[in-house]
Amino acid sequence: MDIPGRTIVVAGAAGHLGSAVAAALTDRGANVAGLDLRASGEGGQVSTVRADAADETSAVAAVDEIEKRFGTIDALVNCSGLIHSEPLVNLTNPQRRRHGIQTWDAVIRANLTAAFVLGSVVAERMAAARTKGAIVQFSSIAANGNPGQTAYSAAKAGIEALTRVWARELGPLGIRVVAIAPGFVDTPSTRDAVNEAALGELKRKTPLRRLAAPAEVANAVLFALESDFLTGCTLHVDGGLVL
Ligand SMILES: NC(=O)c1ccc[n+]([C@@H]2O[C@H](COP(=O)([O-])OP(=O)(O)OC[C@H]3O[C@@H](n4cnc5c(N)ncnc54)[C@H](O)[C@@H]3O)[C@@H](O)[C@H]2O)c1
Repeated sequence: MDIPGRTIVVAGAAGHLGSAVAAALTDRGANVAGLDLRASGEGGQVSTVRADAADETSAVAAVDEIEKRFGTIDALVNCSGLIHSEPLVNLTNPQRRRHGIQTWDAVIRANLTAAFVLGSVVAERMAAARTKGAIVQFSSIAANGNPGQTAYSAAKAGIEALTRVWARELGPLGIRVVAIAPGFVDTPSTRDAVNEAALGELKRKTPLRRLAAPAEVANAVLFALESDFLTGCTLHVDGGLVL
C-alpha cells in the first residue's frame, strides 16, 4: 500500500508509541484518524476520536465518525494497550498473594479485546467496501512468556494468534494482517512497568545493548503497511533480545 493519501486509523494515538506511529504516518502524507480512551496527550497533532476500542457500541460510533470525516478506511494500526507487571504468586504480600483477577481482566481488555473489537468493526467495513487494506497489531516480546507478566504475555500471545487467523480469513479479500512485537522501548509506559535495575539487565541481554526508540517501532509499522506480500507474521523489533 502506498501510504500518502490513505486514511489510517491509529488506536491508542494518545499513547507513547501510538503518537510516534501517528506522527510517522502524517509525515508520509497519510490522513491519520486517532482513536483513544484519552482525548489528546502526545497524540495531540492528529485529530483523535475519544472511544473505547474494547466496547462494540463505542468502536462502531467512532468508526462511523471517522468514515464520515475521512471516507473509506484503508488501514488500522491497533496500538492501544496496557503494560502491566504482576507476579502469579507473591507470598510476601499478605494483601495480594495471587495475581489479581481485576488486573487480569483490565490487561486482557486493553490489549486483546480492544484489538478484537475494533479490528472486527474495521475489517467488516473494509470487506463491505472491497478495500484492499491492512491491519497492524501490537504484540510484544512478552508473547514468548515474560516472567512477572502473566496477563500481558497471554494477551500478546493472543494478538499473534489473532493475526494468523485474520490473515487466513481476510487474505482472500485482499486485507493483510501483520503484528509488530517490540522489545523494550524507551517510553514512560516501559519505565512505569519495569524498574531501572531490571531495565539495565535487559539492556545487557539485548545484542544491540539498548532500548528501542519509538520512531524505530513506527518504522516497522510503515514497513508492514507498505509490504504488500506480508501477512500473518510478526515482525520482531527487539534489538535481538528474543533469539
Ligand atoms: N512501550 C513499550 O516498550 C512496548 C513494548 C512492546 C509492546 N508495546 C505495546 O505497544 C502498544 C502501545 O504501548 P505504549 O507504550 O504506547 O503504551 P501507552 O500506555 O503509552 O499507550 C496506550 C494507549 O492505549 C490507550 N487505550 C488503552 N485501552 C484502550 C481502549 N480500550 N480503547 C482505546 N484506547 C485505549 C490508552 O489510553 C493509551 O493512550 C501497547 O499495545 C503495548 O503493549 C509497548
